Amino acid sequence: MMTTASTADAPMIGIAAATGFARHRRLRRTDALRELVRETHVRPSMLVAPIFVRHGTGLREPINALPGVAHLSPDTAADEAETLAGLGVGGVLLFGLPEGKDGQGSEASDDRGAVQETFRRIRARGLSLATIADTCLCEYTDHGHCGPLDQSGEVDNDRAIDRLAATAVSQARAGADIVAPSAMMDGQVAAIRAALDAEGFATTAIMAYASKHASAFYGPFREAAGSAPSFGNRRGYQMDPANGREAMREMAADVAEGADILLVKPGLPGLDLIAGARARFDLPIAAYQVSGEYAMIEAASQRGWLDRRAALLESVGAIVRAGAGIVITYAAADLAGWLEERA
Ligand code: PBG
Repeated sequence: MMTTASTADAPMIGIAAATGFARHRRLRRTDALRELVRETHVRPSMLVAPIFVRHGTGLREPINALPGVAHLSPDTAADEAETLAGLGVGGVLLFGLPEGKDGQGSEASDDRGAVQETFRRIRARGLSLATIADTCLCEYTDHGHCGPLDQSGEVDNDRAIDRLAATAVSQARAGADIVAPSAMMDGQVAAIRAALDAEGFATTAIMAYASKHASAFYGPFREAAGSAPSFGNRRGYQMDPANGREAMREMAADVAEGADILLVKPGLPGLDLIAGARARFDLPIAAYQVSGEYAMIEAASQRGWLDRRAALLESVGAIVRAGAGIVITYAAADLAGWLEERA
């Protein structure tokens, strides 16, 4: 015998009212409502654009693995910085390609280096934009590691931090507002702070690459910077990507050593660490959307597999949602333009 007491016969009082489930979609109906309740906003002033400089004049040589990014000379790099400042981008992060390499990465700390020359030119234009130096040696050493090697072929930590400190002082002298040590040597922040203070650069800030994993996503950068290690890998100094608690220890150490800003790298693979850093430390938190993250989006977009603009806005938005207040991204100029359009 069939039952006749089916809900089909009941009056339509609405299942929502009956069960009390929430009406989340009310606030998703229109652009205006969505904008009203948006929790995170990316502003151009939070973005930092990496720039690769080498000696010369008038250079603008595209980098194959990083579409839209080029090797510049100090003059064209200063032009680029001016364009970025005009777009409201918050800062530039300079990487240098040396004329010659050696075991110590000597040119990194040479006041006539391409990075130093570029800082002087940017400074001379009086741009309203933060000038940041990547402080590392791997672009400058003939073996491609982030510091001088010891007898056994490992990076000699304590000689490396002396070289990094000398490099930071030279960058500060040339006009860097912020130095960003990225070599993952123990004690690098303390050594740089002490050297800057001793040389009269107490106002130069340190953005510590505090949590830097030995990531596969740096691949395109190493082509751009000519910094692939000639043997071995960086796992003896960069962190195992499997480790998050270790990342927190590294960050705590950098805070204790005097870091002014903590940087997490890479970005999307490190969202948990960005959130952890934001919860635990009351310093500005930066994140680096690295070359491989950018190149993936570029490559898929070129094939029509991703909507480039939407993918970049979403991924940088996710990095900000996780807790970063500063995002280093190769798409800074495009993002700044898009964000202005929306505003
Ligand atoms: C220098 C440095 C690297 C990156 C930033 N600073 C390369 C590396 O550690 O191998 C990577 C940036 C990127 O992939 O966009 N040590």
